[in-house]
Amino acid sequence: MRNTIAVMNTKGGVGKSTLVLSLAETLSAVFRKNVLIIDSDSQASISAMLLSATNLHRLQSDGLTIVDLLVASVLNNVAVDWPRFVVGGVSDVDEARTVYLIPSDMQLTLFEREVSKESLHARLRTSIGALLNHVRGVFDIVLIDCPPGLSVLTESWLREADFHLSPTKPDYVSTCGLEVFRRFKGLNPEMGFAENLGVIINMRDQHSAVEADYQRWLSENADNRVFAQTIPRTSALQHASHLSAVERSYMAKYPGESSVAIRAVCQELLSRVAAANAAASATSAPDPSAPVGSKAS
Ligand SMILES: Nc1ncnc2c1ncn2[C@@H]1O[C@H](COP(=O)(O)OP(=O)(O)OP(=O)(O)O)[C@@H](O)[C@H]1O
Ligand SMILES: [Mg+2]
Repeated sequence: MRNTIAVMNTKGGVGKSTLVLSLAETLSAVFRKNVLIIDSDSQASISAMLLSATNLHRLQSDGLTIVDLLVASVLNNVAVDWPRFVVGGVSDVDEARTVYLIPSDMQLTLFEREVSKESLHARLRTSIGALLNHVRGVFDIVLIDCPPGLSVLTESWLREADFHLSPTKPDYVSTCGLEVFRRFKGLNPEMGFAENLGVIINMRDQHSAVEADYQRWLSENADNRVFAQTIPRTSALQHASHLSAVERSYMAKYPGESSVAIRAVCQELLSRVAAANAAASATSAPDPSAPVGSKAS
């Protein structure tokens, strides 16, 4: 089943990490899915949203982050026992017991420098592909939190993941970020690329006519596959990134319109993933009318 999703917009601050967090917690607490988050941002923001500073620092000191996994596999060319790097029980939502994380570390930037210096791009892509092949069969949904910009690592996720999902703010600069991303996708098509799962409009102010214009403009381009449900700007979502010292209920973390919007987005996301998988199996299924043993010419 194709279920690995790179969450990406070349523009920073559009809510990629917040969306990854709220989608993962909702898919776990409400939809009973096993969700793996891969933190591919050297700022480790999603890791800090899911782990206390002490626990994150301990994992970094013990060499149990995405950086250590990639250094072993890409720079040292050794086989990696990937489940060692997956941390369970990471959310502060008490119903979200099936959120898992491969955390990140600042050293990711240095790792990327080594990859470029040594021209190890092909090996990086092979390692990323192998990791995604493993986790695809174990988790229901895999969300990769990408940093803004287009690094060699982000390119590998985008070429090896099944889908990409792009949060955007309904404003000029964020939509430019999507345009840069669209052009990037058009380069070297022979190298493969994730399928577009859609654009999610985040931080929407229902009273802004300018934002309504941007939403209409984005939606008019069918290639964007804009989600029907937008995500409002709410103080609950703004504060969701602050890990609570004590566990709280799902509705305490995502009250009212925040939970209504995130649930609807999850529903749409699951339907799109299911539809894409159904379409893929329909095209790969053998023709039942073909004689047994015949080969397609
Ligand atoms: N729907 C929302 N309502 C209110 N605030 C939001 C919402 N979504 C995100 N934010 C806030 O916007 C800011 C940027 O969000 P976030 O860090 O998730 O963006 P990002 O795209 O991951 O940023 P970066 O590009 O730096 O990784 C944060 O302060 C976050 O709390
Ligand atoms: Mg982020």
